[in-house]
Amino acid sequence: MQPVVAIVVAAGSGSRLGGEVPKALRELAGRPLVSHSLEHLAAGGVDRVVLVIAAGLAADFAPAIAGSPIPTSWVAGGAERQDSVLAGLAAIAADPELSGCRFVLVHDAARALVPPEVVDRVVQALVAGAVAAIPVVPVVDTIREVTPSGSATVDRSRLRVVQTPQGFRREVLVNGHRLVRESGLQVTDDAAVIEALGEPVTLVEGSREALKVTEPLDLLFAEAIVRSRP
Ligand code: C5P
Repeated sequence: MQPVVAIVVAAGSGSRLGGEVPKALRELAGRPLVSHSLEHLAAGGVDRVVLVIAAGLAADFAPAIAGSPIPTSWVAGGAERQDSVLAGLAAIAADPELSGCRFVLVHDAARALVPPEVVDRVVQALVAGAVAAIPVVPVVDTIREVTPSGSATVDRSRLRVVQTPQGFRREVLVNGHRLVRESGLQVTDDAAVIEALGEPVTLVEGSREALKVTEPLDLLFAEAIVRSRP
């Protein structure tokens, strides 16, 4: 079987979380968020990682990379998340050990506690033939949409919250990112890139534990989740 490669994007500043260090290096239960991510991806079936970090921070990320349970290389990211994913895809294409891989996962380092079974579901959906597979969870809150005349309730039973890792046939993700770059489209995840190509996106069951650490409150939740695990 070909290696499953994950691009882990960690080049954001994390300004909504605050703190002195980039978000991916913020400590959760005594270890950086990114180390938790690498561990859970490995346990879920990922074989290799390309970690995308902010230019100039290689020394700061070196201990997390050295401690990764799977071979992990790094590359400098870009101004927007999609630039960082593109940098990861370019690094895969340039590495003879990775350039033959069929499947690529893209994971936000900030989703540090993604359960391995969610990663496995994404990989298995690709193995079963999906072009793109993404984990989702139902919406638990009631949602209102602001309209020109006021606001209106949205039928939440039709909505899903999108998580990572998102998995793709590599050539489709590459083509999608090329199209998005050429068209100037702004996207917040990679499933939207696939959608722009008109390709189908398969949904698999995610987990509330795969929360994206974005604000200080999320770190409190994440600490509680770590404590609750065996
Ligand atoms: O900003 P947001 O929370 O959507 O970022 C999601 C993920 O994308 C984070 O893990 C962040 O580090 C990464 N990112 C990146 N390069 C950027 C912006 C965000 O790798 N330029």
